[in-house]
Amino acid sequence: MPINHFLSEHGHRIRNRLNFTDDPPEWGLRAKQAASSNPDFLDATVGTAQNESGFHYFPTLLKEIQTLSSEETLAYANMRGVPAFSRAWKFDTINSYHPSLRDKAKILTSDPVPIAGGLTGALFTVGQLFADQETHLLAPSSRWGNIDNCFGIGLDVPIHSFDIFSKDGHFTFDHLRSKIEDVAPSASRLIIYLNFPNNPTGYMPNFKEIEELQDIFKAISLPTIVLLDDAYEGYVYPDESFPSQENPIPHSIFPYLFGINSEILPIKIDGPTKRFCAYGTRLGVISLGFHSETDQKTDVQVVKTGLNVSEVFVKAARSHCSSAPRGIQEALGRILSDNEKYKAILEEREAFRSMLEQRYRFFLRVLQEQDPNPILKPLTCNSGFFAFFLVQDLSARVLAAQLLEKGLGVVPFMDNQTGFNGVRFAFCSLLEKDISPAIEILWRVSTEMCC
Ligand SMILES: Cc1ncc(COP(=O)(O)O)c(C=O)c1O
Repeated sequence: MPINHFLSEHGHRIRNRLNFTDDPPEWGLRAKQAASSNPDFLDATVGTAQNESGFHYFPTLLKEIQTLSSEETLAYANMRGVPAFSRAWKFDTINSYHPSLRDKAKILTSDPVPIAGGLTGALFTVGQLFADQETHLLAPSSRWGNIDNCFGIGLDVPIHSFDIFSKDGHFTFDHLRSKIEDVAPSASRLIIYLNFPNNPTGYMPNFKEIEELQDIFKAISLPTIVLLDDAYEGYVYPDESFPSQENPIPHSIFPYLFGINSEILPIKIDGPTKRFCAYGTRLGVISLGFHSETDQKTDVQVVKTGLNVSEVFVKAARSHCSSAPRGIQEALGRILSDNEKYKAILEEREAFRSMLEQRYRFFLRVLQEQDPNPILKPLTCNSGFFAFFLVQDLSARVLAAQLLEKGLGVVPFMDNQTGFNGVRFAFCSLLEKDISPAIEILWRVSTEMCC
């Protein structure tokens, strides 16, 4: 009998609707194939950073992993996490916030719960608990597509897209505001997915924009989970000539969301994937933000390990992936709680941010030297691993396929609901010397295709 005969309704949905055609890994594979017959091929599809020697990693982390014992590497981890890791992760996260936000964050944040499967596993765990057909998910049209796989297909949740850029290419929360007004009357619960720095656009809001977001959230009157995907937190590139209020916030927006409305539940998803360039370790982390100390006291349980965890996440994780990988927790737990090692890894993280910033600045300079392009419109970008070009009057998929043939890999992003259509350019995976030739191909091919 063919497998179809045995599939559940859910299985049919996954088999029939989950489509890798436009997934970044699929475009990454196509780029690798194209590169195998073209030694000059430039691959700007990949969301993992490369340097002159190849894969970029943090030496302090690799060294620590190499000292782990057999038990620390191979035995089960506590299902609530390795306590030293959870405590140190919370410390490192809060340490990244502006000093004026730290005390509040210490009190109003649960201890983090580590989840197997990276940020993806953590996002799915949240979905398992809060998402059903009565729950509506609002997500930017410029979003990491696995959100659709995870929530739309995996959990059968209706997804509503809103643009975070106006037609003239400037960042705005206006469309989020109107989307909430449209959707809220027919929903029993909302999940608002936000990812800053944003994949694929490379945008991180400034303080003024976050104040607007707070105003939007204050007006919400139904239970709303604000799901923050903080994969790229901290990788921002401020402009010295701007007033500080107009520069990207250098850390997660999580601490700005406590205490503004009791109907809002902020949940922070992060992990070592990009924070420590540990993509394959498959560890995700969930932290909960409380409206008040009373909510915090009612929810968290101080378990035997001494951790203040929200047990509901531990239960959800137990039901689909049991416990999280142990080795990476052991290694990071030791590094983040040892003064010398912590100092060393912070320096490595700053050197990495600075390498990305250098590429970003070089990319901007190269862009400024180009003639106006008839079909490409770069979006404002100030952070993260990527830059983005809106494509006008041509399918982004068609342009990306043609670019592959001409020696450049980029990833197309399209959204049927809003008409968002463009290509993502991963400067994280290109060496500085390759940025100018990559832009040259992009400009030449797009101009040829339009005329
Ligand atoms: C915005 C965003 N969220 C989540 C992830 C996935 O993270 P992980 O590999 O830890 O599942 C990615 C990976 O590219 C991403 O870009």
